[in-house]
Amino acid sequence: MKIAPSILTADFCELGKTIDMLSQSSAEIIHIDVMDGVFVPNISIGFPVIKSIRSRTQKALDVHLMIVEPERYIDRVAEMGVEYISVHIEACKAIPETLGKIRAAGIRAGLVLNPETPVESVFPYIYLCDFVLLMSVHPGFGGQKFIPETLNKIRSLRGEADRQSLKLDIEVDGGINLTNAAALREAGATILVAGNTVLSSPTPFETINALRQ
Ligand code: DX5
Ligand code: ZN
Repeated sequence: MKIAPSILTADFCELGKTIDMLSQSSAEIIHIDVMDGVFVPNISIGFPVIKSIRSRTQKALDVHLMIVEPERYIDRVAEMGVEYISVHIEACKAIPETLGKIRAAGIRAGLVLNPETPVESVFPYIYLCDFVLLMSVHPGFGGQKFIPETLNKIRSLRGEADRQSLKLDIEVDGGINLTNAAALREAGATILVAGNTVLSSPTPFETINALRQ
């Protein structure tokens, strides 16, 4: 199980300190939420901030693109030297080409599903993915409540990946806390994103370790 703290709810005046803290923690991945104000009703951060984060940490960077036409920006994100890029299945018009482009750059490629998108919609593409990201809140904001139906989607996706003999990472994003982390792991998740739970913790190192166990 890998833990991927999200920086979405950080104080961006203090972002360097947050990145340094996460660099020193046991977290394997730093999750970066990019929003365009069109695909989701919020606007977060973009290229200059990803560039600064890249120069500050050796941790793997996971860029979650909540934007329309994500295929237009794969080259730009790939050039920044990140380790994971995911695009929404609802937003991407050229899914095999986009995943192929990410992988050709030596980056792990993922498709993301919104809570209301049936998990079966990703089945034809999972052989092209290194990971699938299941949203367990409606995308756009940190600090929302976990949608429990996500557990069934994880089980179903894990079953399908096994049927296709694929070693797929299943990442879950939104509302993850110390109460639901164990159930997510048991259902078959392998990467947990946690924003608010880590950043609002008085003891984030311990919280990251506790999420993993
Ligand atoms: C929501 C983002 C999440 C968010 C999770 O649109 O994709 O990555 O930061 O935050 P929490 O863990 O606070 O729900
Ligand atoms: Zn995210």
